[in-house]
Amino acid sequence: EGSQGHISVVLLGATGDLAKKYLWQGLFQLYIDQVSSGHSFTFHGAALTDLELGQKLMFDVLKKLSCPPDESPNRCAVLKDQFLKLSQYHQLKTAENYTALNREIGILLHQEGLKEAGRIFYFSVPPFAYTEIARHINSSCRPPPGAWLRVVLEKPFGHDLESAQQMAAELTSFFREEEMYRVDHYLGKQAVAHILPFRDQNCQFLDPIWNRHHVERVEVVLKETVDAKGRTSFYEQYGVIRDVLQNHLTEALMFLTMELPGNLSKAEEVLQCKLQALQSLRGLEKQSVVLGQYQAYASHVQEELQKGQNYVSTTPTFAGVLVHSDSLRWEGVPFLLTSGKALDERVGYVRVLFKNRAYCTQSEALRDAGHSQCKPKQIVFYIGHGVLNTPAVLVSRNLFRPIMPKSNWREVVGQPDLHIFGQPLSDYYVYSPVKERDAYSVLISNIYHGRKDFFITTENLLASWAFWTPLLNSISHQAPRLYPGGVENQHYLDFEMVSGELAFTVAEPVELLNPSGP
Ligand code: BG6
Repeated sequence: EGSQGHISVVLLGATGDLAKKYLWQGLFQLYIDQVSSGHSFTFHGAALTDLELGQKLMFDVLKKLSCPPDESPNRCAVLKDQFLKLSQYHQLKTAENYTALNREIGILLHQEGLKEAGRIFYFSVPPFAYTEIARHINSSCRPPPGAWLRVVLEKPFGHDLESAQQMAAELTSFFREEEMYRVDHYLGKQAVAHILPFRDQNCQFLDPIWNRHHVERVEVVLKETVDAKGRTSFYEQYGVIRDVLQNHLTEALMFLTMELPGNLSKAEEVLQCKLQALQSLRGLEKQSVVLGQYQAYASHVQEELQKGQNYVSTTPTFAGVLVHSDSLRWEGVPFLLTSGKALDERVGYVRVLFKNRAYCTQSEALRDAGHSQCKPKQIVFYIGHGVLNTPAVLVSRNLFRPIMPKSNWREVVGQPDLHIFGQPLSDYYVYSPVKERDAYSVLISNIYHGRKDFFITTENLLASWAFWTPLLNSISHQAPRLYPGGVENQHYLDFEMVSGELAFTVAEPVELLNPSGP
């Protein structure tokens, strides 16, 4: 053990929400998966809190770590014990604290006679703290030559193009591009992560139809039932477009629309193709967006921020955006991005609808006699929640039977009474993961493996902001439509196709928010 070298993982913000909810569990999963890899590990939780309290808070979290369902309970108990022994808390506040951490890592390696493979610094702290931490790591915590450094950063990465550029410039003064891993946790969702492999493995069938001649439209949807209560100080500055469309939904769309790289295992090639796809998005017009705000939002803002009586928030909690690409492959195909809070259901998916005439078999046409068209044909990367409540890949049976790697995806059968997009589940080939993994476990494993294609490069980030910022500026004073919010209100806002173009229709009951005061 340890002959491959030692890896130190430093988790900054070790007692914060994200760490509690996902990151420690993800690190534990990494340890379970890699304990026999030949690498040895130590895990260093860090925060501003003093040693005694910080240690207590952190170990309270670690003691509650759970075992993955596919792991034997006995082995897991032993591993959890070891994981706790390999973990320690550090107060990281001053420059001296960072020097001391560096020294401790050095001493440990020396005592155990280990060579150093690399260091991971996971920034689970608010972005305003990034520069200071980055400076300390750069000046006193870099590993010796030959070992790698990986710093992991969480969003928000700026607020618009300019602020993102500024933040990126600061970070690049401390770290090299290949050292930075910017997280978009949607890239770790199993259904999203499988889009490219799926396209690659099914290329023979898909390539001829993956284009404007055969695709009717693409939908990228993240509907949430939660509202913004308790988070309005964040939400007021961001709103739904910055919060999830600029990042999660755009990224998922890019996996769908980018050209397939020659070699999927070459991160460089994947990132290059994704960047090209981002850069070929057509600039957005104000008319390409509908904005909404759930009715109780104003009172949530009042409760938390105690704004003056005349304060009216125009922050959208719902957005539907019609996006187009100028690429040869996709020109003219509507891409619909939708997300909102306080909606009627929680569900996320990326859905490709094919033109109905494409591959409508004769027998099918006969069976459907009386209808003018054959059954819809679609491919859905079902991110999770919703009626299926599991990540899944669905392919209409009248399209083709996909090739799925059996070690990772198993075919799901049954539940004929379940309907998805108005069709019984039995109309689709359905696959779900053999082992369900949460996004953070997937991403942490990819950080360990140095898979940069699962993260957002500086170029990619800036290209996405360059696309969204003009729209954000043009709508900054636009009043969103009010919608009732809540699970009982199904049709708050709607879209429809009008003479080949996608148009937005606003369903009742809605009223227009008056931006100039109540
Ligand atoms: C986060 C947003 O990035 O993604 C949240 O800040 C949103 O507002 C969340 O709720 C959705 O992620 P998930 O994994 O819960 O679907």
